Amino acid sequence: MVDYRPDKSSMAKSFAAAASQYDDVAVLQRQTSDELLDRLSLMKISPETILDLGTGTGRNLSLLQQRYPQARLIAMDIAPGMLRQAQKRYRHDLGLKRWLPGQHRLQLAAGDAEAIPLADNSVDLVFANLALQWCEPQLSFKEIQRVMRPDGLLMFTSLGPDTLTELRQAWAAVDEYPHVNVFYDMHDVGDAMTASGLQDCVLDIEPYTLNYPTAMAMMRDLKILGAHNVNQGRRRGLTGKQLMKDVIAAYETFRTAGQLPASYEVVFGHGWKAARSGQHTEADGSVRIPMEEIQRR
Ligand SMILES: C[S@@+](CC[C@H](N)C(=O)[O-])C[C@H]1O[C@@H](n2cnc3c(N)ncnc32)[C@H](O)[C@@H]1O
Repeated sequence: MVDYRPDKSSMAKSFAAAASQYDDVAVLQRQTSDELLDRLSLMKISPETILDLGTGTGRNLSLLQQRYPQARLIAMDIAPGMLRQAQKRYRHDLGLKRWLPGQHRLQLAAGDAEAIPLADNSVDLVFANLALQWCEPQLSFKEIQRVMRPDGLLMFTSLGPDTLTELRQAWAAVDEYPHVNVFYDMHDVGDAMTASGLQDCVLDIEPYTLNYPTAMAMMRDLKILGAHNVNQGRRRGLTGKQLMKDVIAAYETFRTAGQLPASYEVVFGHGWKAARSGQHTEADGSVRIPMEEIQRR
């Protein structure tokens, strides 16, 4: 049976290898993080501690710091190579401002979203742009909920199953191995958020399309982004020349107006940690609030 789960160590290695060229091709990541930051500006919060989970090259760190200058920022990634880039970029982006009174220094932490190395109730805002799609939702949301303080907010983007559908179909025409990562459905993501105890969860999907002159250009970008195939059941070893020619020919059938599209199904989501520890989420998603809490309101 083919194993579709991501291989963590190979994923961390491939992201670390991608770190130095990543920013040149991270077009989708920039678009989705800008949208996520726009959505964040609608939230009335003043976080003391922010976790940028799956920080990558740290593009969002200075943007978060400028928005919440008093907040302590933690940049976390499973790939230590990415953290080194993130630190460099943060210093560069913030320049001398990072020494202003009241500014906190950036904390870097290597860590997995499925086992976050932070204490319970220690973070007010978790920001995760395009990092949770390789995680098991039940594990990552439970961990995020655990480290968040009461009233804490999670803002994230992830990828849905209609991502890279052209590439998936092109490979399916030439062999039976998984060549494209498999992503969770928005409904599974929503169920996992609710099961973790997160509340007032909101999810929606936005389609994005990137256009490329050739299939090779698209696959090269995916590799630089560290986002190429990391399924455990993937075909090991080098892909033969003939197989590559066949998949490129299959991808050509999607050419429209001179360009080859790469579709992305981006899931935008947010959820809150309950304000009071006395609150309890039932299995059906309803929230039980102790009588004394209601009387105090
Ligand atoms: C597509 S990049 C996005 C980076 C950044 N958030 C941005 O907006 O540019 C995904 C990042 O998530 C990290 N990542 C993937 N799985 C992770 C996990 N389980 N725990 C922590 N980080 C993870 C990768 O190493 C990579 O740096």
